[in-house]
Amino acid sequence: MKVIRDIGKMKIYSRIKKKDGKTVGFVPTMGCLHEGHISLIKNARKQNDVVVLSIFVNPAQFGKNEDFSKYPGDLEKDEEIAKTEGVDIIFYPSEKEIYPKEYSTFVNVEALTGNLCGKSRPGHFKGVTTIVCKLFHVINPDMVYFGQKDFQQAVVIKKMIVDLNMDIILKVLPIVREADGLAMSSRNSYLSKKERNDAAVLHKSLRRARDLFSEGEKDANSIRSSMKDIINSKESVSIDYLKIVDPIWLRDIKTIQNKALVCIAANIGKIRLIDNTVLGDHENQ
Ligand code: PAJ
Repeated sequence: MKVIRDIGKMKIYSRIKKKDGKTVGFVPTMGCLHEGHISLIKNARKQNDVVVLSIFVNPAQFGKNEDFSKYPGDLEKDEEIAKTEGVDIIFYPSEKEIYPKEYSTFVNVEALTGNLCGKSRPGHFKGVTTIVCKLFHVINPDMVYFGQKDFQQAVVIKKMIVDLNMDIILKVLPIVREADGLAMSSRNSYLSKKERNDAAVLHKSLRRARDLFSEGEKDANSIRSSMKDIINSKESVSIDYLKIVDPIWLRDIKTIQNKALVCIAANIGKIRLIDNTVLGDHENQ
């Protein structure tokens, strides 16, 4: 396994592989790898000749008062994990390499970004689509791997791929959870012991939504209100948003027909966590 920091070298590497008829699978991350990332890598490894993992904490997707400067990172540990999982290349560019001083081009998906995290974190998805588009150009992948944990991110990237006619297949993989149901996240490491225990209410509330739906409840507000009762039982947890939307266009819905996406964003102490589940999809947990 090699670590490449230079855009030019990365481009040459993947283009040579593709010229040799190899397929390239790509997993974009911000590092601090956990089982959620590992599941993406394992799938990429199974389905491609070459696996590229990027690690770049992208300043363009963090708001002014967000945790960019404090985002956790441990390259040595990430390298070990990547090596064990059979990654061929870690692309680990510097901020200057990605956004030189005079940088001024941004990619913005206009649909799908007005609700949920797009509403709570203005400019966030513009930063995400810009970096992901740049990485796609540099790495030139055949297949890319994203997690359902960031559901909105995955559908926004999918829209970018379609709208910009990119020849890339996007795979979305299920949320990997801790034993008590908490969705794995690099940010979990910042929770105190109490906050960590309290954080389990997010998944508990999603399970309640699933139970209510399978008992026949179709009214989004009643489901949301039962979920809120569960979440509000923990003082350290404050809801940023709790929404039930259609899983295609992410618009709020009142009555659930077939499928619906239930999404939560919550602050636990100073840490913002997100989670979701798809009602009407039996494979979802
Ligand atoms: P990051 O938060 O590091 O996540 C990288 C990928 O791992 C994303 O596709 C995310 O959905 C997936 N992931 C994270 N936790 C997961 C879990 N518990 N189960 C399954 N998949 C999980 O998302 C980003 O980085 C950035 O926005 C990025 C796409 C790299 C652009 O900067």
